[in-house]
Amino acid sequence: MLVNSRLIVLLGFALLFCLAAAYQDVKLVPGRHYQASEVRPVHNLVRKYMRYSTAASSFVDMAAGWTSCGLACNSPDVHDVTLNLTWHVDIPLSDGLIGVHTHDKEIVVAWAGTHRYRALITDMSVMTVPYMGTKGNVHSGFLESVQGAGRTVESHLRRLMTDYPDYMVVFTGHSKGGAEAALSALDLVGRVDGLRERVRVWTFGEPRLGDTHFATIYNKLLGPVTYRVTSAADPVVAMPPRFLFDYCHHNLEIWISNAEGDIYVGEEFRECAEDPRASGSVDFYDRSILWHKNYLGLPPQDHADAEFSW
Ligand SMILES: *[C@@H]1O[C@H](CO)[C@@H](O)[C@H](O)[C@H]1NC(C)=O
Repeated sequence: MLVNSRLIVLLGFALLFCLAAAYQDVKLVPGRHYQASEVRPVHNLVRKYMRYSTAASSFVDMAAGWTSCGLACNSPDVHDVTLNLTWHVDIPLSDGLIGVHTHDKEIVVAWAGTHRYRALITDMSVMTVPYMGTKGNVHSGFLESVQGAGRTVESHLRRLMTDYPDYMVVFTGHSKGGAEAALSALDLVGRVDGLRERVRVWTFGEPRLGDTHFATIYNKLLGPVTYRVTSAADPVVAMPPRFLFDYCHHNLEIWISNAEGDIYVGEEFRECAEDPRASGSVDFYDRSILWHKNYLGLPPQDHADAEFSW
């Protein structure tokens, strides 16, 4: 009898632990406005993934002895992520990290933004090239970056997915890193069995990534699991302009419409996800780069300034 009750208590604890440690998902309805107070869980995820995106810079380098993304990711609500890979490729330029978050049961693939001036060269390669034999065309600079690190990322991800079969896989990044996160997710979903069922994509201040055909391909495969977060009057999300090479955004836009953190969720489109009531409602001349560096207060100002180097 005593043994039984102990067993029950033990099982109870085990169950509690399982419930506590789990991937958090959010449900948002396209075309709906939310007050900041209604979407605190969304804010928490935005801050968490922005921290990983910020950490995916040259600061966090396993070659320099980093084992977790530590201070760069740490906060009262975020536990450390154990690093599995950091990459810093010079040509074509790209940086990023893969980490494992045991508490939230997620594998994080984070691509760094334009934190090295050389990355601007990548940003400016706005010519589009055909995407993997499809009708879609994609930003040639981002494609080069993703292909440069692609094989290494893929082999590490495959091993982690085998070792952590019940973990979600989250691709994330800010700015150029957001575009690369979305593109590498799309690329790997086509190559890694079982990834499509476990993947989420969270991007911040992502520039346009490809043309209308590309957006259609993206939306079909990853639209329902992608959160493309845009901040108030961020000008980067309006680049490159629509009229250039038929550039068009993919689903699903989560527009943080003001400093209070109110949210408007863009309509879902089959082809091209540009809801004129979301960030597109802001006139180009009213936009400010300050909003690109402010996703609910992240990245932190000192980090944003310090991280720029050649
Ligand atoms: C990365 O993860 C794989 C799979 O779990 C593991 O075998 C490998 O040792 C890890 N590498 C590092 C550097 O942690």
